[in-house]
Amino acid sequence: MQYRRLGTTDLQVSRLCFGCWQLSPAWWGDVPVGPWADAVKAALDLGVNFIDTADAYGDGLAETELGKLFQREGCRDKFVVATKFFWNFSSGPARFPDTTRDYILRACEASLRRLQTDHIDLYQIHAWDPITRPDEVGAAFAQLKREGKVRWFGVSNLNPEQMDLYRAHFEVSSLQPPYSLLARDIEARELPYCLRHNLGVLNYSSLHRGLLGGRYTADTKFDDHRAKAPLFSGAGFKIILAALDEARGIAAGFGLTMPQLAVRWVLTNPAITSAIVGVKKPEHITGIVKAAEARLPQDTWHHVATLFKNAQTAALAARD
Ligand SMILES: NC(=O)c1ccc[n+]([C@@H]2O[C@H](COP(=O)([O-])OP(=O)(O)OC[C@H]3O[C@@H](n4cnc5c(N)ncnc54)[C@H](OP(=O)(O)O)[C@@H]3O)[C@@H](O)[C@H]2O)c1
Repeated sequence: MQYRRLGTTDLQVSRLCFGCWQLSPAWWGDVPVGPWADAVKAALDLGVNFIDTADAYGDGLAETELGKLFQREGCRDKFVVATKFFWNFSSGPARFPDTTRDYILRACEASLRRLQTDHIDLYQIHAWDPITRPDEVGAAFAQLKREGKVRWFGVSNLNPEQMDLYRAHFEVSSLQPPYSLLARDIEARELPYCLRHNLGVLNYSSLHRGLLGGRYTADTKFDDHRAKAPLFSGAGFKIILAALDEARGIAAGFGLTMPQLAVRWVLTNPAITSAIVGVKKPEHITGIVKAAEARLPQDTWHHVATLFKNAQTAALAARD
């Protein structure tokens, strides 16, 4: 496993990060916890020391299961633990964005309790809250840092202007944006911003929610949140499957599988510190680790990028 320093923090993180969103029944259905916990242990054995979760994943379920596993295995300190807050789900089913000072302090206490730990290594704001002043967020963060409950702070799904607003009030160490062969918007502004200001980047949906894993066929039907997602059905889906067939051949030329090529493609970008992969079972993590070590030549990176860019354009145009 290879490791990188996350921005200007003192955190050395593996280039692969274990994503815990899969323990969200409302999005992914009932993912069995046993194989998931085995996958966390397998990740550790393979040198993956970075784990990403959020309080909102399964309304506390992902943090709770992680906390139990940390206790059982005594492995809390072997991980750099990143979690998030933003969605206030404490007052019923209608969750809403909340980055007020009082809520942040309460949300952090709740995450610490669920994770059964005394500190969070990276505490991230899940998204942009347009109605709370950045200085109020900064005041809460200063308190959490003073009390030793959080080591570093990060943001997710923000643009450069929003990051500027927060950076005037507290140290932002990282950005968590979506990035994959099928989601490249952040190459224009967010990634150059992170390079210029030395922010670490842990990108999510490296496999585009599994589509770039290369395991689906024309007969695959999705019974989770992806059933209604663009590119996961109809004529567009078939166009992406054809691109995957071609890419699989390219991957094989480098001794890689399709998901390894997709993750290696992301990691080749110098702005990316660590690629998060969403995991349900041990094979997901054991099947991907090779991506952290492989090399992709410049021409191949661009070749694969163009292949999927063209396929995506055609797939979106073909949507019924
Ligand atoms: N900050 C945010 O707003 C945000 C948003 C989304 C995600 N995230 C974070 O990023 C993580 C990853 O993102 P993601 O879940 O959207 O997508 P992802 O990593 O692109 O896709 C995950 C899915 O890919 C499939 N998969 C995993 N490993 C595989 C392998 N080795 N080979 C083939 N297929 C594989 C699995 O789906 P199947 O088993 O169904 O094939 C899995 O559920 C999340 O767990 C979460 O921690 C953050």
